[in-house]
Amino acid sequence: MRIPDSKIDEVRSASDIVDVISSHVRLKKRGKNFVGLCPFHQEKTPSFNVSPEKQMYYCFGCGNGGNVITFITQLEKVSFIEAVRTLAERAGIVLPSESSVDVAEATESEKLYEICRKAGLYFYENLTTTVEGKLALEYFHHRGFTDETIRKFGLGYAMNSWDELMKRMERENISIDMLDKAGLVVKRDDGSGYYDRFRGRAMFPIFSPSGRTIAFGARKMREDDPLGKYINSPETPIHNKSRNLYGLFHAKEAIREKEYAILVEGYADLISVFQSGIQNIVASSGTALTEEQIQLVSRYAKNTTLVYDADSAGSKAALRGVDLIIEQGLEVKVAELPAGEDPDSFVKKNGRDEFQKLLDEAVSFLDFKARHFQADGLLSTPEGQVRAVRSIVETIAKMKDELKRTFYIKSVSEKYGIYESVLYRELDRILGHERSQSQFAQRKETALALDETRAKQVYVPPAKELPSAERDLLKLMLEHGNEMVGFIFSHIERERFTHTQAQRLVEMILGYAESGRAWDANTLIGEVDDALPTGQAGDFRRFVADLVFSKYEISKGWSVLEEADPATLAERCILIIRKQQIVELLEENQRAMREASARGEPVREYLERHQLLMSEKKEVEIGGLGGKNASASV
Ligand code: CTP
Ligand code: MN
Repeated sequence: MRIPDSKIDEVRSASDIVDVISSHVRLKKRGKNFVGLCPFHQEKTPSFNVSPEKQMYYCFGCGNGGNVITFITQLEKVSFIEAVRTLAERAGIVLPSESSVDVAEATESEKLYEICRKAGLYFYENLTTTVEGKLALEYFHHRGFTDETIRKFGLGYAMNSWDELMKRMERENISIDMLDKAGLVVKRDDGSGYYDRFRGRAMFPIFSPSGRTIAFGARKMREDDPLGKYINSPETPIHNKSRNLYGLFHAKEAIREKEYAILVEGYADLISVFQSGIQNIVASSGTALTEEQIQLVSRYAKNTTLVYDADSAGSKAALRGVDLIIEQGLEVKVAELPAGEDPDSFVKKNGRDEFQKLLDEAVSFLDFKARHFQADGLLSTPEGQVRAVRSIVETIAKMKDELKRTFYIKSVSEKYGIYESVLYRELDRILGHERSQSQFAQRKETALALDETRAKQVYVPPAKELPSAERDLLKLMLEHGNEMVGFIFSHIERERFTHTQAQRLVEMILGYAESGRAWDANTLIGEVDDALPTGQAGDFRRFVADLVFSKYEISKGWSVLEEADPATLAERCILIIRKQQIVELLEENQRAMREASARGEPVREYLERHQLLMSEKKEVEIGGLGGKNASASV
C-alpha cells in the first residue's frame, strides 16, 4: 500500500532531524549545524553533520547523507515506507490502514515489530478488561506505579493460560511461526505444538531506543508460579539483549540534558526512580552490563553513575561494571544505597530528593573500591592493603587515556601514602602482564584507525569532480530557490552544466521551478529516493548532501564568499562558465579558420567572429552580464 505524498510530507515536517538523530547520535552544536560521531562508519573524530535549517545530514567521512527519512532507513535498515511509519508513530501521526494485509507484505523485522506491538497492547488491555488483569493492575498500584506510569511504560498482564495470546494472535492472522520468532511462544518438548511463554505474569515491555516494543520482561505474581522471579523474551531478530538498555527510549533526552546516565539493575528500579522525576536512568535488566550497552549510553553522555542493589550480588556487579565502563573510556561514579535497599525501595521510602542526594554523593571508582575493601576488612592488614591497592591499579590499567591514568595514580598515591613510583611499577607489571591482551586491543585500534582512513580514501565526494562554478551555482540554487534559478537560467543554458549528477539536479530543479511547485534539497532527495534504484538514489543523495553541507570552494580568489551577496556570487560563476564557453568557441573558430585557409577558402567570416568573441571575452573579464550575445546565441 502506498502512503500518499501529502502524508509523507506531513511526517517529514513533523520530524525535526536534530531531534530524531539526537536519539541515536550524541550531537554537539557547532555554528549553525550539529556534529557528532557518524553512526554509519567507525570514527573517532566527528565528521557527521546535521543541519536544522536544511533538515539534512551529511558525513564528510563516509559520504552518507540525506534527510530524516533516509536517516532512519539507513540506520534501522528498513524500507522507505517503514521509516515513514516509524517517524509517523513518533510524531503521533496516524497513517492510513495498518491492517494485517500490510503485515503480510512487510519484511520479517517489520512483522516482528508489529507482533510485539500488538502483544504489548493486548497485555496492557488485559489490565482493565479481565478480572485477572485487574489484580495485576492492583499489584502495580500497590508497587506505587501511577496509571500514567503504567501507560507510559506500557505495563500489562499476560493471562494465566497456555494459549490466550496464541488464540488472540491467530485471530489477527499471525502465524505461529512468527510468534515463535518473536519469542512469545515456546515449542512443546514433544514437538506437538506451542504454548504461551508468559502466563499469569505482570508484563514489562522492552522498547528499542527508538521506541518500538521488541521484547518483554515478565514478573511472577503468584507464589505457586514455579518459574523464576522474572522471565524474559529470548533473543530474537529484533531483540539483542546485550545491545539494548531498558528505559533508554524514555530516558535519552534527560540523559543528554543532565550529561550523565544513572545505571540500575531492575525494571522496577528504573520505573520508580523515573516516576519520582529523575529520568536520566537506564537499567541493564537481566544481563550483566555489556560493552555494547556502555557504548549505547555513550551516544548520549560520557558520564555514568551506578546505583546497584545494596547486597553482595549488587556490589559485585558494580565492581565489574566500573571496570567495564572505565575500559570504554567513560567516567563512572558509584552511589551507595543503605543495606538491603534497591533503588526502587529506596526512592519509594525516601522520595526523589533523598535519591538525588545519594546521586550527588556518589563517589569515584577509587573511593568505591576502597570502601568495598574496607567493608571486607582488607584494609586493616598490610597484605590486605597490597591487595586493595593492586586491585585499584588494575582498574587504572584499564584506562586508555594516559593522562587519566597519571591523574589517578597520583590520587592513589596521595590517598594511601604510597610512592607513585611503586604504583607505576605495579601498573607496568599489570600492563606487561596483560600485554598480549592489550596488544590485541591495540591491534584492534590500529585496525579501526585503518578502517577510518580507508573509509575516507575510498569515498571521493562526487561533487569534487564538479567544475567549481557549477558547484557554486547548484549551491546557490539550493540555498535561494526559484528566484535564483530564474536568474541563473536567464543567463546560461541548462546544457552548460556538464557533470552528470549536476545535470540531473538541474533538470529536477527546473521541473519544480517551471511548474511553480515548492521544493528544497530535502524534497529533491525524497523524490529520488522514491524513483531511482537504491544505489543510484544513494549516489545522488550524497551528491546533494555534499553540496548542502560543504563550504564554498575558497580556491578561486574570493574567500569570504559566504558573506557576499548571492546575486554577485551567481554572476561571478556565470561569468566563469561563460568565459569557459567563449574560450571553447574561440578554439573551435580558430580550428575552423585554419582548416578553411588550408582549403584556400576565405577566412573573413572567421576573423569577424573571432573579433566578436574576443570582445565578448573582454567584457566577461571586466565582469558584467550583458544581454544576448554571440556565444549565447550559438
Ligand atoms: N532478573 C531477571 N531474571 C530473574 C531475576 C532478575 O531477568 N530471575 C532481572 C530483572 O530485570 C530484574 C533485575 O534482574 O529487574 C534485578 O533483579 P532483582 O533485584 O532480583 O529484582 P527487582 O528488580 O528488585 O524486582 P522486584 O522489585 O520486582 O522484586
Ligand atoms: Mn526490587
